[in-house]
Amino acid sequence: MKSKFYGSSAWILAMALMTTAILTSTAQRGPRGGFGGGAPFTSKFVPMDEKETKILGVMEELMANEQYRNVPPQDGQVLRVLAQSIHAQHIVEIGTSTGYSGLWFAMALQKTGGKMTTYEIDKGRADTAKANFKAAGVENIITVVLGDAHEEVKKLDGTIDLLFLDADKEGYIDYLNTLMPKVRSGGLIVAHNINAGMADPNFIQAISDKAELETLYMQGMSITMKK
Ligand SMILES: C[S@@+](CC[C@H](N)C(=O)[O-])C[C@H]1O[C@@H](n2cnc3c(N)ncnc32)[C@H](O)[C@@H]1O
Repeated sequence: MKSKFYGSSAWILAMALMTTAILTSTAQRGPRGGFGGGAPFTSKFVPMDEKETKILGVMEELMANEQYRNVPPQDGQVLRVLAQSIHAQHIVEIGTSTGYSGLWFAMALQKTGGKMTTYEIDKGRADTAKANFKAAGVENIITVVLGDAHEEVKKLDGTIDLLFLDADKEGYIDYLNTLMPKVRSGGLIVAHNINAGMADPNFIQAISDKAELETLYMQGMSITMKK
């Protein structure tokens, strides 16, 4: 009962985000009078307590000195909102890098009491991510697994509430096939860099054509709910 509620609230949230995107572009065109012609709205993050302030401080420092590719802040906010809306207890991330998206997830997990398992093939990045999680005070809720995620995820036990794919793009289909059985009903599979030319057509077909999945595309991400 509880998971059904959280599952449907996530879907409502996703629809609301999509509607906001449509309204924003409509506002830019200003077709029917009122508020037309302005710049698009951008999300702003205002930390609500000391824990969020601490995590935000580490994220800002990380981004100021970052040499690798991370999700942009507005995508991080979407990830946090999705994770907290479905009351995620277990987030699985493929592609930790130095931990930026993981820190957004950690904000949600602070509220839901959940945990995250994140996979990274590069030792230097994995070590930096661990240090960043420690500096943010969230190292006890995040397990960083070093190695090739295609092999390592086969050892994963338990249910997944949210699966985030942000590593080798051609590998998304393999991660989906291996991990989808573990995603709970009402759980989400979010994939990054879902743009023409970058996304694997086989992955797009797999998340679009299955009756048990419902997929939205927004902000360069696919957001798939397991029905
Ligand atoms: C775009 S970055 C991830 C960014 C991160 N999610 C963020 O927003 O902070 C992709 C990462 O996936 C890692 N990666 C690529 N192939 C991998 C594999 N087979 N297993 C685990 N990690 C992999 C890369 O080393 C890289 O650090």
